Formats: sequence, C-alpha cells, structure tokens
Amino acid sequence: SELESGSMKRSDLEAYLGVAAETGELILRNLRRADHLVKSFKQVAVDQSSEERRSIDLAEYLDEILTSLKPKLKKTAYRVDIDCAPGIVLNTYPGAIYQILVNLVMNSLLHGFDGREHGHIQISAAIEADVVLLQYRDDGRGMDAATQRRVFEPFFTTKRGQGGSGLGMHILFNLVTRLLGGSVQCESAPDQGVCFSVRFPKDAAHPA
Ligand SMILES: Nc1ncnc2c1ncn2[C@@H]1O[C@H](COP(=O)(O)OP(=O)(O)OP(=O)(O)O)[C@@H](O)[C@H]1O
Ligand SMILES: [Mg+2]
Repeated sequence: SELESGSMKRSDLEAYLGVAAETGELILRNLRRADHLVKSFKQVAVDQSSEERRSIDLAEYLDEILTSLKPKLKKTAYRVDIDCAPGIVLNTYPGAIYQILVNLVMNSLLHGFDGREHGHIQISAAIEADVVLLQYRDDGRGMDAATQRRVFEPFFTTKRGQGGSGLGMHILFNLVTRLLGGSVQCESAPDQGVCFSVRFPKDAAHPA
C-alpha cells in the first residue's frame, strides 16, 4: 500500500481523515437513533407487562394524564380541553391509555403546531353500549393524503433525521388493537388539523 511504500501524500491522508470523520458521525447518528428506538420499544414492553389491568374513572384518569403533561404545555400557548362525562368506569390498562394520549399530544406539539404559536387540542370521551369512543382533535397543520394513509406504518415519519422514529403511531395502533381490543381511525387534511377516533371495549379482555 501507499502507507507501506512511503508514497502516501498529504492529500491522501487528508481525504482519508475526512472520510473517517464522516463515517464516525454517521455511526454516531445511527447509534443515537437505535438508542431512541430501543427506548420506545422498552417503554411499550414495560407498560404492557408491568402495568396492571385495573378499574379507572375515565374522566379522572384523563385529568391525571393532562396534569402530567402540564410541564410540556406550560411554556406554550397551546390549549387542551377535555370533555368526558363523569362516572365512566373502565376495567382496562391505564398504562396503554396514557401512552396513547401522550403520543397524540406530542405529535400535535411536534407536527401539528410546528411553527405555530397557537393550537387547540380537544379530547372527548363517551361510552355507548360498553364501547368507549375517545376522540382526539387538534387544529394544526394536518396531514396530506399520503401521510394520512401511512400514519400507523412502523418507521413512517416526516421528521426523519430530526428526532422522529416513526414509531409513535405504530405503537398507538398496536396498543389500541391488540391490548385494548379496539380500533382506531385517522381523519385529516392539510391545514385542517387531525381527528383520531379510538374505540375500545369498556372492559379489556384478559390476555390469552
Ligand atoms: N397531529 C399531527 N399533525 C400533523 N401530522 C401528524 C400528527 N400526528 C402525526 N403526524 C404525522 O404522522 C407521522 C407519523 O407519526 P409518528 O408519531 O408515528 O412518528 P413521529 O412523531 O414522526 O416519530 P416518533 O416515533 O418520535 O413518534 C409524523 O411524522 C407526522 O408526519
Ligand atoms: Mg410521534
């Protein structure tokens, strides 16, 4: 090689060092991404396995979730309203409901209200024939048709390289359909905000 034969030029070495630095950065970026992914997966695993199935009053629980999100909302002009009838008692996985709402709120802040000073989130919950209907709306930027179609796909994100892993909505989809035994739909259009409709039975089935 050039190194062994002593014919390596300064420019060769500089070029090599440039490539090495770039490679190092690439590796580091990917490690950070992997670390972020593992943490998201772990979070779900923890919630699913260690979180008890228990009785909750939905209105009270939604209030608790909102209180825990206050620090994230405090510095902003974003408003959150909850409209839930009192006395809806569920026997379910509160950890899943928590994770679902945190993912939705974080998405409103990061995507819906991106670059906007004002934003409004409306969460409503009702029960009909033992099925809970949880509706989540924001009045943010919304999604185009292509994004909306893929919103629950694993690793689909419009913020690749800006901290997005594209797992939030996929995790939500799995929690709703598998753990809670329900369904979820997303309606949106550019500049029309989003509306997620989550339906699940009042009492979660016991895992098989
Ligand atoms: N409230 C919203 N308003 C506008 N776009 C949204 C909203 N929620 C989700 N999206 C779009 O759906 C995509 C997928 O969301 P998802 O939560 O799965 O991934 P992410 O937020 O990009 O990354 P992360 O894994 O960190 O949650 C987002 O990248 C964004 O384009
Ligand atoms: Mg997200």
